[in-house]
Amino acid sequence: MNTTKTVLLTGASSGVGKSLAHHLYDLGYDLILLSRREPDIVKIGDRELVEFISTDLSKPDRATGIIDDIVNRYEYIPYVINNAGINTGGHLDRQKWDTIEHDLNINARMPWYVMKKVLPAMREENFGRIINITSGAPLNCYPGFGVYSATKGMLNTMTVTLARENEGHNIKINLMSPGPVRSEMAPHAKLNPAICHPTLDYLMNLPESGDTGGFYWLGYKVPLFPDLEGVQWLEGIGNEKLKRIL
Ligand SMILES: NC(=O)c1ccc[n+]([C@@H]2O[C@H](COP(=O)([O-])OP(=O)(O)OC[C@H]3O[C@@H](n4cnc5c(N)ncnc54)[C@H](OP(=O)(O)O)[C@@H]3O)[C@@H](O)[C@H]2O)c1
Repeated sequence: MNTTKTVLLTGASSGVGKSLAHHLYDLGYDLILLSRREPDIVKIGDRELVEFISTDLSKPDRATGIIDDIVNRYEYIPYVINNAGINTGGHLDRQKWDTIEHDLNINARMPWYVMKKVLPAMREENFGRIINITSGAPLNCYPGFGVYSATKGMLNTMTVTLARENEGHNIKINLMSPGPVRSEMAPHAKLNPAICHPTLDYLMNLPESGDTGGFYWLGYKVPLFPDLEGVQWLEGIGNEKLKRIL
C-alpha cells in the first residue's frame, strides 16, 4: 500500500512543469524539484516538503550525483515526472555533436538514470507511477526538429521497454505529451498548460490493473507502434496486413 505522496518532478521552473508543480501542490503532494532556476512554488508553497535542488541535467557528471543523493535520502519515491526538456531546432545535418549530446542528456539519458535509481525501491514497495513527458515530434518527424524527435524517440522506447520489464509489479511507466501548450519552449502555442492536468491525474492514479507503456495526449491514448499482431518478428514471418513489395 502506498502511503507517501512524494513526487520527483524535473523542470518545474516554467511552462508545463510549473503548471504541474502548482497542480500537484494543491492536491497535497510533496515535491522534490530539479531544474537550474528556482521554481516559484518553492517560495509560494508553505508546506515543509517542497525541496528544490538546482541541477543542470545536461551535465550528467554532477546531475547523477544529485539523483543518487536524493534517492539515498528519501529511500522510496513513489511518483516521478521526468518533464524537463529542450528543443533545439534546425536541420539535422547541420547540427553539432555537442548539441546532440546536450539535448540527449536532458531529454533521454537523465530520465533513464532517474528511472534506474527509483525503480528498485518501487519494486520493493510494489508501487510506482512514472510519467515521462514526451512530444508528438518523434511520431511525426517534422523537418527542422530532428534532435528533438530523436531524443524524445529514445525516451519513448526506453519508457515502453522499462514498462514491460516491470510488468510483474504494480509499477506504471507511461508517456504523456502535454499538447501544444504555451511555455518558454512554445511561446506562441494556443493552449494553457493546465489542459494536460486531467491526463496527468489519470496516469498518477492508475489502478494496479491500469495501463503501462502507453502514450497519452490530451485525454487520448495514441498508438506508438504499428499493429504487429500475427507478425512473428523473431522468426522473420510477416502477415497479410503488411504491404508486400517482393
Ligand atoms: N510546450 C509544448 O507545446 C510542448 C509540446 C510537447 C512536449 N513538451 C514537453 O514538455 C516539457 C516541458 O517543456 P515546456 O514546454 O514547459 O518548456 P519550457 O517552458 O522551456 O520548460 C522546460 C523546463 O525544463 C527545464 N530544463 C531545460 N534545460 C534544463 C537543464 N539543462 N537542466 C535542468 N532543467 C532543464 C527548464 O528549467 P531551467 O531552465 O530552470 O533549467 C524548464 O523548467 C518538455 O519535456 C517538452 O519537450 C512541450
